[in-house]
Amino acid sequence: RPKVTLNTIRSLYRQNIPIASLTAHDFPSAIVADRAGVDLTLVGDSLAMVALGYENTNQITVDEMLSHCRAVARGSKAPFLVADLPFGTYEVSAEQALESSIRFIREGNMEGVKLEGGIEMADTIKKITTAGIPVMGHIGLTPQRSVSLGGFRVQGKTTIGAKKLLQSAQALQDAGCFAIVVEAVPPPVAKFITQALTIPTVGIGAGSVCSGQVLVQLDMLGSFDRFSPKFVKKYANGFETNSAAVKQYVHEVKHGLFPTEEHTYPMRNEDDIKKLE
Ligand code: KIV
Ligand code: NA
Repeated sequence: RPKVTLNTIRSLYRQNIPIASLTAHDFPSAIVADRAGVDLTLVGDSLAMVALGYENTNQITVDEMLSHCRAVARGSKAPFLVADLPFGTYEVSAEQALESSIRFIREGNMEGVKLEGGIEMADTIKKITTAGIPVMGHIGLTPQRSVSLGGFRVQGKTTIGAKKLLQSAQALQDAGCFAIVVEAVPPPVAKFITQALTIPTVGIGAGSVCSGQVLVQLDMLGSFDRFSPKFVKKYANGFETNSAAVKQYVHEVKHGLFPTEEHTYPMRNEDDIKKLE
């Protein structure tokens, strides 16, 4: 499969072919995404919660993210690689944002970055994109700001809210974003935004009208046993499958049923066995 570039993403968008995006957080999850045909692999800061057990996404650092980014890059051949700028690493100034972004490119082997926020982030995004780093926007429910949003809540439920989101989306497009994640908004709002833009929207909890979709891999595989939002379709029950397998392993170890001969190595000569007895 050919490498997905920004041109590939633009071409999918022009042809109205939905852009399939998925998060990955380590080497095996990156390989799964790659082999399954994912166009864009996101090292989302959601990994703080689903892979590292943090209460929210706001404690993870660039250094912690970078280790995951490098693992994902090692497991990815085709997908376009984007990483989330974590909370506190891009809001202070455009310079801070550019410095953080550069780290993801140079030390994380990523191809682009994603950051949360609306019209207020436009100058920052311009700074990063004019330095030659592709930026993905993220509007609607922005988890890093969930406290000030009053929780993980649906956004743009009113005409005023929807128009504000569109204004932000247009500002992000003008600032040079190559795509925008639209999270947890009613489908008519996602449609309103998607139709007004000339860059792809990548929806999560935003209905099917977006130019692409994204989900958190461990969520959609059912491997995260805590809360999962309404918009997560569970394509597998990883937690139950894995728990049952590990329970079986423990049972077999306790009862001497594992390992059996097929899991062992023979001696070179039969005679040598006797010498050991
Ligand atoms: O952190 C993340 O995984 C994300 C996607 C769900 C869009 O931001
Ligand atoms: Na994120």
